[in-house]
Amino acid sequence: MKHPGSCQMLGYFAVLLVASLQYAASRDLRQVSEPKIPASCESLRGNDRDETSVLQKALNSCAKGRVVHLASGTFVSGHLTIPSGVGLWIDSGVVLKASNNPKLYDTGKNLCGTLNKVYHGCSPFIRMVNTVGSMIYGKGTIDGQGGVNLVGKNQSWWDLAHEAKLKNEHQNNPILIEIDNSRDIILYQVSIKNGPNYHVVVSLTDGFTAISTGYDNVAIKASNGPSKQISVMHNRFGPGHGMSIGSDLTVVNLTHQDAVTGLHIKSDRSRGSLVPNITYTDVCMRNITNPIDLQSEYNPTATGNFIPEYKGISYNNIKVLTPAIFTFDGYRDEKPIGATLHNVHIAKGHTWVTRHAKISGKYFEDASGSSC
Ligand SMILES: *[C@@H]1O[C@H](CO)[C@@H](O)[C@H](O)[C@H]1NC(C)=O
Ligand SMILES: *[C@@H]1O[C@H](CO)[C@@H](O)[C@H](O)[C@H]1NC(C)=O
Ligand SMILES: *[C@@H]1O[C@H](CO)[C@@H](O)[C@H](O)[C@H]1NC(C)=O
Ligand SMILES: *[C@@H]1O[C@H](CO)[C@@H](O)[C@H](O)[C@H]1NC(C)=O
Repeated sequence: MKHPGSCQMLGYFAVLLVASLQYAASRDLRQVSEPKIPASCESLRGNDRDETSVLQKALNSCAKGRVVHLASGTFVSGHLTIPSGVGLWIDSGVVLKASNNPKLYDTGKNLCGTLNKVYHGCSPFIRMVNTVGSMIYGKGTIDGQGGVNLVGKNQSWWDLAHEAKLKNEHQNNPILIEIDNSRDIILYQVSIKNGPNYHVVVSLTDGFTAISTGYDNVAIKASNGPSKQISVMHNRFGPGHGMSIGSDLTVVNLTHQDAVTGLHIKSDRSRGSLVPNITYTDVCMRNITNPIDLQSEYNPTATGNFIPEYKGISYNNIKVLTPAIFTFDGYRDEKPIGATLHNVHIAKGHTWVTRHAKISGKYFEDASGSSC
């Protein structure tokens, strides 16, 4: 598996979910227009060296409503903070690499890049916290360098995650982009790859739009508090674990290939509660082991009274081209999963598992074709 680290983290984080839905889709589609890149406050050229302080200084001194323009070359950086209202424009052909030096993310305890039981050792690569209207734009690439050896070590972030799994510990690896307690955040066009940990984590945020981006995966997590009004549109996901969510999630026009899980919601009684209004529309999946996977007892030993209740989960115009396992596993009959299928076509040879679930609509076993 490419990101053993992500697996580890699922047990710790809250609701995990990947996919899209319909009436919410039309609502959000009207609100979300194609972003325009604002004027730049500064234009920079990368030299494939550590430019953390240059980038942070440019972001800090940029006026609200303007963008720092990474115009050419390759930039290497440690932890960065994007201030409120400021954008980062990663132009076509430009690569912004997350440094492989754990010290540049360390939260002060010298834990980043090591294993322990709790893992609060690393700041994320890019953080937006308490921000309104910040953005990351452009046709360039953010490369997390997950598979590159760490400075002074014979081990990459991914090796560390693998070791954590074997030893039943947690890896202290930075999340690539973390958006916390914010509003109206946009990721547009950028490609995001090789995350040491999750690629994009959104929590306690109202109004998050990812449009025309390419990711290994996305996580919208509820551990710090739920996020609302999320649109994930016209994206391509590759290997990874998909997306995790709050409520009012809309996923439109997604292709997802070569992964273990696709449209995925995982929770348990320590953190679940009501997860309403999730819509997946126009999703094509190929070579995904679990294209639809709803789990309400992800950690079977969890305790608490936040019984997961998945309601109003819609699957519209879904195609699954390869044989796969579909799981709708509700908590109890009193809190069944409420899901609706509309125009769902899957390949022959599937396994369909439902427990404590009320599913309306039906699926057709007639999907074929070799590409999405
Ligand atoms: C690094 O690890 C590889 C195998 O994982 C090993 O062959 C090599 O000798 C190691 N190098 C050092 C400097 O430890
Ligand atoms: C769906 O997204 C792809 C990019 O992944 C884009 O090329 C295509 O135009 C989108 N389709 C629609 C109908 O918007
Ligand atoms: C299918 O996806 C898995 C990852 O889940 C990957 O390892 C494998 O190479 C993919 N197979 C094909 C034929 O692309
Ligand atoms: C779900 O969406 C419907 C229709 O937009 C809305 O009335 C309802 O309040 C939403 N439920 C929650 C819990 O957000």
